[in-house]
Amino acid sequence: VAGVSDPFVLVHLSDPHIGATWAQPDPLGGFAAAVERVARLKPAADAIVISGDLSDHGSAAEYQQVLDRLSSLAAPVFVLPGNHDDRGAMRDSFELSGSGAEAINYSVDLGALRLIALDSTVPGEASGTVDVEWLDSELSAASDVPTVVAMHHPPMRIGIPAGDEMGIASEQLGELASVLERHPQVLRLIGGHVHRPVWGRLGGRTVFSGPSTYVQMTLDFTTHEVVLSDEPTGFAVHLLRDGELLTHVSSLPS
Ligand SMILES: [Fe+2]
Ligand SMILES: [Fe+2]
Repeated sequence: VAGVSDPFVLVHLSDPHIGATWAQPDPLGGFAAAVERVARLKPAADAIVISGDLSDHGSAAEYQQVLDRLSSLAAPVFVLPGNHDDRGAMRDSFELSGSGAEAINYSVDLGALRLIALDSTVPGEASGTVDVEWLDSELSAASDVPTVVAMHHPPMRIGIPAGDEMGIASEQLGELASVLERHPQVLRLIGGHVHRPVWGRLGGRTVFSGPSTYVQMTLDFTTHEVVLSDEPTGFAVHLLRDGELLTHVSSLPS
């Protein structure tokens, strides 16, 4: 089909936390390093998604720094909010549809792939929730197009209490699973928030949370506190090829 590239390359950046001062090094350095590596990808990225926590304080100035770094990339960039973001400021900075502080839910047709951005944030809270009915109707509207659902809070339990306690409630994971079972075109659910690459399953689909470009969370299955790690930052690349989605992680030198 003309205009549809194969493979289709979806770059997945997460949790740059521009403006944060609670870990080293400077968040802009990690984000810029990721963007530089993305710029060298072959073939070039077809689209880029950033799965939330773009800024640490949700300010227009921090979003402008994100936009400045992204300006070297040719591919369209799609963003969604994390718990550190501000819906209104993000909406203004990235010219998203809707208004003010309403949830940032939207779909984009990228040719070979449909991307659904699903807002999982609750203003003022670290934990998440999603509009399951909206997702169900959005998926019903294009049931035959391979689809990736992107959100900030990965819809799975990662086994690290500190991460799971700021996740999506178990009841809602059950509702999401039933929706997914009705929509086999969903190839992957992707997120961030837990600042580690983690794979899981929900409703028969693979769920993936991508690494942060700022700082990772320590691998500790007992801690209820978020403990930061010196593991490398990175980003993911989802490759749609012959109807199958593959997920790669690229780590960046510290
Ligand atoms: Fe984050
Ligand atoms: Fe987060």
